[in-house]
Amino acid sequence: MDFLTDELNEYIEKYTRKESDVLKRLNRETYLKMLMPRMLSGHLQGQVLRMFSMMIAPKNILEIGTYTGYSAICLSDGLKDGGKLHTIDINEEYEEIISRYFKEAGAENKIKRYIGNAMDIIPTINESFDLVFIDADKENYSNYFDLVFDMVPIGGYILADNVLWSGKVLEKPETLDIDTKALINYCNKVESDPRVENVLFPIRDGIMVCRKISN
Ligand SMILES: C[S@@+](CC[C@H](N)C(=O)[O-])C[C@H]1O[C@@H](n2cnc3c(N)ncnc32)[C@H](O)[C@@H]1O
Repeated sequence: MDFLTDELNEYIEKYTRKESDVLKRLNRETYLKMLMPRMLSGHLQGQVLRMFSMMIAPKNILEIGTYTGYSAICLSDGLKDGGKLHTIDINEEYEEIISRYFKEAGAENKIKRYIGNAMDIIPTINESFDLVFIDADKENYSNYFDLVFDMVPIGGYILADNVLWSGKVLEKPETLDIDTKALINYCNKVESDPRVENVLFPIRDGIMVCRKISN
């Protein structure tokens, strides 16, 4: 669902850093060949994520939900020299397109990929992450937050995508589906957690940004 008119969206994109040629082609190929291409972050959100990453200049990033690699390429731009983005996806079908575009973007040496269930993989990663981007199965958002919390230093960030869920979060409680409930629970969880401060950015489908302020 678009919260803004097409005209306003065009205006916003006009005054937003353009997609690189590689991102533009990845965007197009994902829409031509993949199932559920709307999962891809896209121009505006990709550039917002890139800008967050440039501002934070993380040593390491964890991304949960690679899909075809669009947001990973955007986020990896902000890494400190020698930094790494770790990205996990349960679906191995994206293998070919991801490898090709990571290479074309010159990002293949900055990105470590994992294939499998993020709930199983995260506990096996022995790293600390200044920036975490949660963008996989909605039911596990709160579990992901708990799993990554100790891997994030004070001053680090945990971002979660789709927290507005096309506006479904405002529907009557009795009509809510599992994913919508999980997203509302996630927002309540971080809002009531004194160890983080949070802002819900109404960008595309909503990005919850949390900054860790204590252990
Ligand atoms: C919204 S897409 C990610 C989009 C990507 N971050 C981007 O912006 O271009 C969500 C991805 O999460 C993956 N996923 C779903 N459940 C998962 C799980 N339990 N563990 C790891 N990945 C999962 C899906 O296969 C899908 O590719």
